[in-house]
Amino acid sequence: MNIVYYLNKLILKYWGLETAASGSILAPWVPTREELIPYIMLLAKPKPGDIMYDLGCGDGRVVVEAALRGAKAVCVELNKELVERAKERAKKSGVIDRITFINDDFFNVNLEDATIVYMYLLTSVNRMLKPKLERELRLGARVITLDFEIPGWRPLHITRVSLGYRDATLYYYVKGVSDLHEIR
Ligand SMILES: C[S@@+](CC[C@H](N)C(=O)[O-])C[C@H]1O[C@@H](n2cnc3c(N)ncnc32)[C@H](O)[C@@H]1O
Repeated sequence: MNIVYYLNKLILKYWGLETAASGSILAPWVPTREELIPYIMLLAKPKPGDIMYDLGCGDGRVVVEAALRGAKAVCVELNKELVERAKERAKKSGVIDRITFINDDFFNVNLEDATIVYMYLLTSVNRMLKPKLERELRLGARVITLDFEIPGWRPLHITRVSLGYRDATLYYYVKGVSDLHEIR
């Protein structure tokens, strides 16, 4: 049990949500700020034919936006209560048919068909996911991370957005380019 685990428990308690019964919550639920979503969509450019995964999708706010733009999406979330919230959001937005919901650890989900991956996790978790991304993602898949880099990958673009009290940073990577030469 580490600090992230307890922090997550505290946040979930505050929001009135239960912690997942099994698996390891590796990053706490901190939703992407709504004002960042247009920037994420601008980078990801989800469209019909795309499949966008959000690894640790929380309440589904990012995948719903991708689905509203015609893409299919996969919402992977270990916390059951958050999956229910995500389904509710998708239903209200009329895109439930375009989103697959997976209540599981993202390490158990194959990413072979992803054309876009979004992650708002932690640098340490991105580091753990990196070999999986390198193994499973197809060439040309776009990967966008919020605030935390994928260590060693070269971002093709970095967008900074002022949130007033702090700056948010979006990192844009492309599989086959960003992971070609490890940067230190
Ligand atoms: C910082 S939040 C981001 C939520 C959402 N992607 C967003 O941007 O609004 C991280 C999410 O990852 C989920 N998570 C953490 N570890 C996970 C794991 N091993 N498998 C699946 N989901 C996980 C948490 O429950 C939390 O909802």
